[in-house]
Amino acid sequence: MVLGLAGVGVSQRQRSVWDGVYTAEQAKRGQTRYSELCGSCHGDTLGGGESAPPLAGGEFLANWNTLTVGDLFDRTRSTMPQNKPGSLSREANAEILAFVLNANQFPPGKEALPQSSESLREIRIEAVKPEQME
Ligand code: HEC
Repeated sequence: MVLGLAGVGVSQRQRSVWDGVYTAEQAKRGQTRYSELCGSCHGDTLGGGESAPPLAGGEFLANWNTLTVGDLFDRTRSTMPQNKPGSLSREANAEILAFVLNANQFPPGKEALPQSSESLREIRIEAVKPEQME
């Protein structure tokens, strides 16, 4: 897997998946879409299937830790669903990712997950909750 430069040694405070970057409403819509488009391969509870990897839990988070939600968004948009890559609208992709973030125990917030890759690249994926710095 390819490591983004953004993940290397960044020490300043940046937005992360722990900051409430999607809404519960959005994740709910994402769940419906996920069941239709992704669940058959990745499992209804995101645990993975015969050949598809899990989209929740330690293994998944280890793959994406220190990368950004933008990386995950672009990866999904260009290669998934595997039987029809490139068919996801930005809106649908953002909703599905909101659901995936929710399933990985990242908290919902007041603002919906954005749909532009640029804004999404500003949100880091941190497997472990960073310590609060006041
Ligand atoms: C036809 C089966 C199939 C469907 C449907 C499907 N996937 Fe996948 N997915 C795979 C397989 C197989 C892989 C592993 C091979 C690869 O990485 O391309 C994968 C890999 C992934 C990865 C990379 C996981 C990682 O940790 O590297 C993500 C993210 C993903 N899928 C998301 C989705 C989403 C979101 C949907 C629904 C929009 C979806 N997939 C639908 C089969 C599928």
